[in-house]
Amino acid sequence: MIKHIFKQIISVLTHASILSWPRKVLRQSVNYALATKNGVIVYYNTPERAKAMDLIHQIKKENDMLLFDNEAYQIYMAAKASAKISGDIAEVGVYKGASAKIIAQVKGKRSLHLFDTFEGLPEISKIDNPEQFYEGKFVVTFEDVKKYLKKYPNVFFHKGLFPQTAGPVKNKTFSFVNLDVDLYESTKNCLEFFYPRMTKGGIIISHDYIDAAGVKQAVDEFFKDKPEIVLELSGSQCLIIKL
Ligand SMILES: C[S@@+](CC[C@H](N)C(=O)[O-])C[C@H]1O[C@@H](n2cnc3c(N)ncnc32)[C@H](O)[C@@H]1O
Repeated sequence: MIKHIFKQIISVLTHASILSWPRKVLRQSVNYALATKNGVIVYYNTPERAKAMDLIHQIKKENDMLLFDNEAYQIYMAAKASAKISGDIAEVGVYKGASAKIIAQVKGKRSLHLFDTFEGLPEISKIDNPEQFYEGKFVVTFEDVKKYLKKYPNVFFHKGLFPQTAGPVKNKTFSFVNLDVDLYESTKNCLEFFYPRMTKGGIIISHDYIDAAGVKQAVDEFFKDKPEIVLELSGSQCLIIKL
């Protein structure tokens, strides 16, 4: 009831034409305040983008998602757009399955392979920041994750330390790979495994490229002698398209 009233109030405040001038002043003030910190407001308000945002907000309500909305949207778009390319989808770094659900919603008939220890992060290296990451962070109950995603067909779980768990997909090709593994060794191992298996035009996204030293170093080292461009996205992800 309270939620409904709150929604009605927000709707009036955001749509009433009589309030268009105060809304403009407020928007410009917020934009100005954010600009002092190099921040921006982005509107996802075309019908298709709004639909994606509704899905992301729904998943955030029902589960613990470790992504900002813009990052989640970038995964949504990459998973959706890569449907025209042949190959399966993989995610390494599943945690409670929130980002996997975004992918599952738009994957079509493609198989989605989900890799995680489901027992938290493995040992960290000297390159990783111990104030950010530690062994065992993000432990979950595997059964809960499986239950959360059980309505989606062609979703396969690979529990354990990657790349030791990669055997079942070694002969597959991939149209989209989402990496969210936080650490140097994990990112390096994922790129070594998936890069040669990406279909031409296939997309790799890695989370934490901007804010985790280990991820950035692993990606930069790996692509140093490769023709692909490492493209920074908004938020902390990077994106690579296989040539
Ligand atoms: C930040 S969480 C993933 C968050 C998730 N993508 C989301 O958006 O909700 C990072 C995950 O990476 C997993 N991970 C890191 N390195 C791994 C490896 N080498 N093998 C398997 N899982 C790994 C951890 O177990 C943890 O669940």
